[in-house]
Parts: sequence; C-alpha cells; structure tokens
Amino acid sequence: MTRPILYCGDPHGRFHHIVVAASHTKASAVVLLGDMEPERPLHLELAPLIERRIPVFFIHGNHDADSDELWMRVWGSELASCNVHGRVVELPNGQRLAGLGGVFRETVWHPSASAARAGAPAFKTMQEHAQATPRQDRWQEGPPRKHWGTIYPETVDALADLRADVLITHEAPGYHPNGFALIDTLAQAMDAGVVIHGHHHDRIDSSARWQAQGFKSHGVGLRGISAIDAEGRAEVVLTGELDGQRAHRQRFIDDVDGWCD
Ligand SMILES: [Fe+2]
Repeated sequence: MTRPILYCGDPHGRFHHIVVAASHTKASAVVLLGDMEPERPLHLELAPLIERRIPVFFIHGNHDADSDELWMRVWGSELASCNVHGRVVELPNGQRLAGLGGVFRETVWHPSASAARAGAPAFKTMQEHAQATPRQDRWQEGPPRKHWGTIYPETVDALADLRADVLITHEAPGYHPNGFALIDTLAQAMDAGVVIHGHHHDRIDSSARWQAQGFKSHGVGLRGISAIDAEGRAEVVLTGELDGQRAHRQRFIDDVDGWCD
C-alpha cells in the first residue's frame, strides 16, 4: 500500500490528531491548509513528524496573523521554509504542489465586481502596501501584521506563471458558496488537476462541478484530515468537527446545480 499524503483542515491550535493520523497511516507527507494558530512554535507542535522525517508543507491562514505571538510561531518557526505560499514544491510522490495562503480582504483586494473598487486592488504588492503604511504600523518592514494573512495580486500573478498538479488554498474555489472564481482561473492557468482548501470548516461534495471547472476540488473541514492521491481521489481519514453541521451548504450546492439544469 502506498503511503498517503494527508491534507489537514484548519487545526486552530490542535495538532495531536495530525501526529496520530500520520503515524497510523504511515503518511509520506503532511500538508496543512492554514489557520494553524499553534500554541507553541509550529516546529514544536509537529516535532514527532520532524523526528520521523515526514515532510511537512503548509500555507498560512487569516488567523495565523491575528497576534504578534501567532505570527512568530508560524513565520518565525523553524518550519517557516515549509510555507508553500506563492511557490511550487515537489511532493514525495513526484507531484508538484503549489500554495496560496491567506484570504481576500477589501482593504487590499476583493476580486469581485460587487466589491470595493469594482474588484480592483488597492495594493498589488505587500511592499506597495507597506510604503503606504505609517512606519509605526508596519510589521517586519511589511504591511500591518494582519495583512500577512491577506492575498495580494502579486502572489496570484506569480503563481499563474507556474505549473502545478495540486494547488492548496485557504480560500475556496468558485464552487463553494463563499468561494472565488478567481481561484478557478488560477488553477486553470496552472494546469492544476486538484485544488484543496480549508478555511470554511466544511467538506462539500463538489464532484458535479469538476468537469466544468477543469479540476477536482476538495474542502477539508475543521481539524479534518483527508488522504488525497495523485488522481485527486479523496479518502476521509478524520471527519471534520463541523462537517455534519455544515451539511446545509451541500444542499445549497445541490439547489444551484438544479437551477442550472
Ligand atoms: Fe481561515
């Protein structure tokens, strides 16, 4: 049996279940989908994986920049180089993994025609935002700390020039009621066959959309874990804590599909 790659939904401060699941499944790699909010530096939370030489990859979520302490435990962790935001790395099975951490915020960029500035960005780069920020409000010479968890056009543009097999995002693609069509466009530009996201704490079945959108999409719920193979087939290793309560979103998707028939 091949050793699975585990995709982990928002841990929000808890990591024991990930360590246990990686051990039980003999995981070949562990991929975190953001909002880790570790109570200790990330490399300490995941020390058992590091000791067993299980590769860890992650993207940050919006909440990972909620405080100075959280920022330091993620961006200042010894695992900081495992953040795949804005780049492509190779997974143990040879697949190319790309990442887009953070969320869209109107202050910077909300890519929707109904949003502020009709979807145009206020800042295209973090540096541009930092330069427009009073020096005392900057964080680590960048924009205010909170916006380290914000998506800037520069990252999406850079990714669009790269190719990947799997794209992990904190925001959801367009299939999701709170998702973004821009992520569909990005996945299509990158030729990514699979998009896996966190953030929404649900695991909606989007398979009816896969053919039209050109990629398989999977959400992983709150502290949920899915093993997803090279063909994009997902096996739930651990059900997300709110997956059952969020079933109404599935009905929304089914309704929309019905309207489009
Ligand atoms: Fe989030």
